[in-house]
Amino acid sequence: MGIAMSELKQKKLYIKTWGCQMNVYDSRRMSDILSPLGYTATETPEDADMVILNTCHIREKATDKVFSEIGRLRDIKEDRAAEGKKTLIAVAGCVAQAEGEFIMERAKAVDLVFGPQAYHELPEMIVKATGQRIVNTDLGVDTKFDTLPQESLNHGPAAFLSVQEGCDKFCTFCVVPYTRGAEYSRPVEQVLNEAKKLAASGAIEITLLGQNVNAYHGEGKDGKTWGLGRLIEEIAKIDEIKRIRYTTSHPVDMEEELAYAHRDIPKLMPYLHLPVQSGSNKVLKAMNRKHTAESYLETLSQFKKHRPDIAFSSDFIVGFPGETEEDFEATLACVKQVGYQSAYSFKYSARPGTPAAAMQAAIVREEIKQERLERLQAVLNEQFLAFNQRVVNTLQPVLFERKSDKSGQLQGRTPYNQLVSVPANDRLIGQIMDVKINHASPTALRGTLELLEVAE
Ligand code: 5AD
Ligand code: SF4
Repeated sequence: MGIAMSELKQKKLYIKTWGCQMNVYDSRRMSDILSPLGYTATETPEDADMVILNTCHIREKATDKVFSEIGRLRDIKEDRAAEGKKTLIAVAGCVAQAEGEFIMERAKAVDLVFGPQAYHELPEMIVKATGQRIVNTDLGVDTKFDTLPQESLNHGPAAFLSVQEGCDKFCTFCVVPYTRGAEYSRPVEQVLNEAKKLAASGAIEITLLGQNVNAYHGEGKDGKTWGLGRLIEEIAKIDEIKRIRYTTSHPVDMEEELAYAHRDIPKLMPYLHLPVQSGSNKVLKAMNRKHTAESYLETLSQFKKHRPDIAFSSDFIVGFPGETEEDFEATLACVKQVGYQSAYSFKYSARPGTPAAAMQAAIVREEIKQERLERLQAVLNEQFLAFNQRVVNTLQPVLFERKSDKSGQLQGRTPYNQLVSVPANDRLIGQIMDVKINHASPTALRGTLELLEVAE
């Protein structure tokens, strides 16, 4: 850009991130792209020359939450203006993509609105935004990754790497195909280069991210199209990387190659997050999921056959339009058959513009949704606890990721993605150590260190 770093005025950047891991990844890349412009991170919006709200549209009232945050920021912006300081307010992510024009109209304090496929143009947008307000909700993803700067070093031992974006599935309840655009896979070389850089800067674990990560079909260096299993095999060759995970997968794209990868690649962790949403074939059809409860269960058993200790996780929606008590019981039956290690469960909420939002006649009453959610979560919680109790009194290799809120403790994860707190010295962050598990709750474990380092 021809500007020496010393000439750049140091500026502060505050990013607030909602939603999925893809958004966490995007926020980090936004801060990477702004760092050559002199922006450094701050935790307090009052200090910030630029604020980015990286939003999520999946949850109910997402837009309301964003507007209330903008209200708070508007006051800060006004206070700062009284002191002669400028503040740029940007709304990014999926709410921005879906409601860009509306945000601009309703929230005059906002300078910039851009969607998930446009943030590589941030430097240009910032320059333009000094004279005008900007909306950029372009959905062409293929140039974004080419233009982004190198990965920064500010990830912990467990890093994310986005390999696939977008979705063509059009589940009738979901906004993602509209906010993230069509499915796109990054070329293999690009992914491998980023993985090597992450490894060189201290990543021990990499989680490959994509809205439909198992639909990955990147162009390989051999001219062939590589699937996710082949990509994982190649990433596993990077010495420093000891653990590989991926999320989120769709049942329709599950291929046996990936099950073989779980069998053959020890670095690939025994954990599969595969959302089923409902156990009723009638509801699955109305959701346009393109799979049945039976085909889903068959996929899980195929994976279990190749990796018997694999842990399963899912997403569930209760109270989808038209869901009867019988349909809901089919979901419970599916849950009982699988036995989950973890899961996310939600009450259906209509997203404007999606086909399910038009299924007015079949709406399930709020009290019924609430009651079903509680029944589902009671069964799931029992399963989480049972799964976690199975590792009590065993040794588990735990990758220490960060300090816990409790002083003198570290937090890490087992291969099955269970969260573990352990009294341990900070210098063990980034190490994989054997931990004796002493206590289990539905969502976490506690353990103590065994002083042997474990090679995986
Ligand atoms: N209502 C409730 N839950 C939803 N999800 C996505 N859209 C909706 C909606 N409209 C859930 C699905 C998805 C997860 C990320 O969020 O379970 O897998
Ligand atoms: Fe949304 Fe369905 Fe695509 Fe997942 S597969 S992102 S739920 S449309």
